[in-house]
Amino acid sequence: MRHLFILLLVTFTCFSCNDEKKSTASNENSEAERSIQKGKRLYNKFCTSCHLPNGQGVAKVFPPLANSDYLKANREASIKAIKYGMSGKITVNDEEYNGVMAPLGLSDNEIADIMNFITNNWGNTNNSLITAEEVSKVQK
Ligand code: HEC
Repeated sequence: MRHLFILLLVTFTCFSCNDEKKSTASNENSEAERSIQKGKRLYNKFCTSCHLPNGQGVAKVFPPLANSDYLKANREASIKAIKYGMSGKITVNDEEYNGVMAPLGLSDNEIADIMNFITNNWGNTNNSLITAEEVSKVQK
């Protein structure tokens, strides 16, 4: 009985996450959806080694992007981190990090796509599309 309940719970969770994806797809314009999809592929290639495929990172070593209060509150600084790299003390979800993230040599377009993916995934929502133009304006 207990197992059945867990099975149902898992099934239900899977259905609801599918629903979530569908509604995001239909609500957003196709430009946003395309950007998010491209960002997802780039994320899987360049970012998962540290921030992990589920965006949870590694406590005290690699900060989480999933539900990250830092990412939510610091749009420009997050773009800057991806564009130019990041080091020094930061606090993410009440945990301190003092590591180094090297710049990955991505184009402004690619950075915009990745930002659109990570700010619209794992419990993050962002209603205003990040463009290559916005990324190009972020200075070191
Ligand atoms: C080699 C490991 C590594 C890789 C690869 C990496 N990061 Fe990071 N990232 C870090 C570390 C470490 C920090 C925290 C730096 C500090 O302590 O100042 C960080 C911080 C961040 C932050 C700000 C903090 C937060 O949690 O919101 C963002 C956003 C971010 N990374 C996004 C990315 C994205 C997107 C990619 C892929 C393009 C990426 N990172 C690739 C290690 C990495």
